[in-house]
Amino acid sequence: MALKYLALASLIVLYSLMFIGGYVSSAGLGLSCPEWPLCPNGVLPDAKYFIEWTHRLVAVTTATLVIVTAIVSWLNKDAHRKIKFTSAFAAILVVTQITLGAIVINLKLHAVLVAIHLGVGILLFSMVLLTALFAFKIAKKPIESTI
Ligand code: HEM
Repeated sequence: MALKYLALASLIVLYSLMFIGGYVSSAGLGLSCPEWPLCPNGVLPDAKYFIEWTHRLVAVTTATLVIVTAIVSWLNKDAHRKIKFTSAFAAILVVTQITLGAIVINLKLHAVLVAIHLGVGILLFSMVLLTALFAFKIAKKPIESTI
């Protein structure tokens, strides 16, 4: 039961994070907060850092949800091995993505790294989506052909 809702919460929060990331990028706010892990002024920064700071705060929330989902799926003996695989892969990807986010800032938005940040984000979304689908058993139903 907890696994279903953890997987769903991860999916919703991750989707919002990718939306915010897209806004950060297209609005040119990528270096609005030049330090890492916190913005200047610490945990509660000035309004000018708000969007980029929100991206980091939601990233930490996403990482917590994704990692807890993986731990719960591995502790649950009834969980299918497909869920164990997708959730563990998602946990590895989320840690990679946060590390990559820090490198993107340190290397001043190097184009290749920003592209990899987007690519890893899409892969992460796919794994979290699959975990949620498996948790709700939607993927278990065979698709019947009408031909
Ligand atoms: C689970 C974690 C994360 C996910 C899924 C994620 C996802 C994204 C996405 C989808 C974009 C838009 C990319 C584009 O349009 O090309 C983005 C942009 C960005 N992210 Fe993240 N992000 C994460 C964590 C972080 C962290 C921890 C940092 C920094 C500490 C960070 C820094 C940035 C920056 C600076 C941009 C804007 C790049 C630019 O200006 O082109 N991200 N992120």
